[in-house]
Amino acid sequence: FFFSPAEFVKSATNLSMIPDNTMIPEVAFVGRSNIGKSSLINGLVNRNGLVKTSSKPGHTRMMNFFKLGDKLSLVDMPGYGWKSRDEWGGMIISYLQNRKNLKRIYILVDPSHGLKESDTQIMKLLDSSGLSYQVVLTKMDRLSKTKYSAAKAEIEAELVKGAICCFPLVLGVSSKTKDGLDELRAAIVKAGQL
Ligand code: GTP
Ligand code: MG
Repeated sequence: FFFSPAEFVKSATNLSMIPDNTMIPEVAFVGRSNIGKSSLINGLVNRNGLVKTSSKPGHTRMMNFFKLGDKLSLVDMPGYGWKSRDEWGGMIISYLQNRKNLKRIYILVDPSHGLKESDTQIMKLLDSSGLSYQVVLTKMDRLSKTKYSAAKAEIEAELVKGAICCFPLVLGVSSKTKDGLDELRAAIVKAGQL
């Protein structure tokens, strides 16, 4: 599959700036600040430095659109917990609810920290809007296999209880070691019917 070469399309700070490429299937990455969204996009397209990352939370301030030819559009988001809820909410929620070519939303969660209230809030919103999302556990390299499995099981149990539009398979990735990236690429291909 063609996860490279990827190109930067546009940054958007308001809805009118969002690219009009609605014929291209799109997936978006959301999650708390510093969870590894931007690093994951670099990993998926195998190009470090396409998206700027930082050890300081709150690095990504705009919605950034990337594309892989005319096949797939990837969207990096500011983390929640950085912008105020209303500010994050205003533009991004409206984008999520209205984007016609948005095939799936990937919610990134740190398995060392588990699901936070900000994660469950966004899941409720997506459930009430009937939007398909899938949970991706990041920074797998930081946990032993045993700890990772236990954390994953706990998160899966919470999802079974509460989440409606959640894709049942929880994926795990490390942008550092590249573990899990192939599985996530395959999931994106399926989600986008590519
Ligand atoms: P914001 O833009 O602030 O919302 O953050 P983000 O979610 O885009 O996170 P970013 O990709 O910038 O990564 C945050 C920090 O986590 C950086 O220091 C990364 O190097 C580190 N990081 C990202 N992915 C991994 C990973 O898989 N393993 C490890 N060990 N560190 C990672
Ligand atoms: Mg970022």
